[in-house]
Amino acid sequence: MITIKNVEKSFQGLRVLKGISLSIEDHEIYGIIGQSGAGKSTLLRCINGLETFDAGEINIDGTVVDTKNKKALRALQKGIGMIFQNFNLLERLDVYDNIALPLKFWGISPKSKESKERILNLIHLVGLDEKIHAKPKELSGGQKQRVAIARALVLNPQFLLCDEATSALDPEITKGILALLQKINKELGITVVVVTHQMEVVKQICSKVAFLSDGRVLSEGKPEELFIMPANKEIKSFLRDGSEQLPKTGVNIQLFFFGEGSEEPVVTQMARELKEDFSICWAKLEDFRENVYGSLVLNMKEEDKDRVCEFLDKKKVHWEVLD
Ligand SMILES: Nc1ncnc2c1ncn2[C@@H]1O[C@H](COP(=O)(O)OP(=O)(O)OP(=O)(O)O)[C@@H](O)[C@H]1O
Ligand SMILES: [Mg+2]
Repeated sequence: MITIKNVEKSFQGLRVLKGISLSIEDHEIYGIIGQSGAGKSTLLRCINGLETFDAGEINIDGTVVDTKNKKALRALQKGIGMIFQNFNLLERLDVYDNIALPLKFWGISPKSKESKERILNLIHLVGLDEKIHAKPKELSGGQKQRVAIARALVLNPQFLLCDEATSALDPEITKGILALLQKINKELGITVVVVTHQMEVVKQICSKVAFLSDGRVLSEGKPEELFIMPANKEIKSFLRDGSEQLPKTGVNIQLFFFGEGSEEPVVTQMARELKEDFSICWAKLEDFRENVYGSLVLNMKEEDKDRVCEFLDKKKVHWEVLD
């Protein structure tokens, strides 16, 4: 488990992390999302001790991250794999040797029976059996990221930190990499932290997400809660896709469907019970892991508003009158 408490960090007087607190449970896939410059990468680098911080505490499985204690830091870093947007592979080495690199760095022979078996298993796990002797320049972006993932796992880490790991890949390739991260999380029990500005990534694989803005955590929770019904104006505008063109007359009420009861035919029930007609003027359904959640906007006459709100409360549907 990773616990972060009131972490502060400045670069040359510029405050970049302004008291970050969050906790990442074992075996979860945790997302950190937010605008460019929000401090996502800096926070990730503080977690694995690549960056120092000025105040607060980061605790990884009971061990406090202390960048001054080099020996303890190295041991901690051994248990944390990391991947990046630009893969960081060595061009002169083939797939096998790139994956073996951390072993050499740690003084473990890559030629031993166990090492060979481990590397071959990882190559198989990431689906690159055919490319074992290919050089990075002979690989696609998605394949390069698979090599980087295998390399990040070669020391048997407990955590995998991903900084914009799919940001340079097209949507189809991204799906494959996300499926691989899910497999690693499930089959190897590795806790995965993904930093990204892509909402799709969070929606597809994360069980929890923190939204960072200007060095602060604005909100933390399940992706469906954060994205379908964001409480915060800034998150709302970050998520807005501009497709909402709502009628200027009458009242527009947005209904949110997630969690229990989201499959009930509330709108038709309401039309029947209240004996009123409504126009559905905007709707959106989104996939979150195995579930579909959604939201729709109903337009109605001003005089129907109170009865509609009453009905929605009775049905325990979340709603909001839009201005
Ligand atoms: N080594 C550094 N020296 C000085 N300033 C830095 C350094 N690293 C990051 N910063 C600054 O810290 C702030 C946060 O940067 P960070 O890279 O953590 O943001 P981010 O959320 O990862 O953004 P992006 O989505 O663009 O990757 C930015 O204003 C950035 O310019
Ligand atoms: Mg970044």
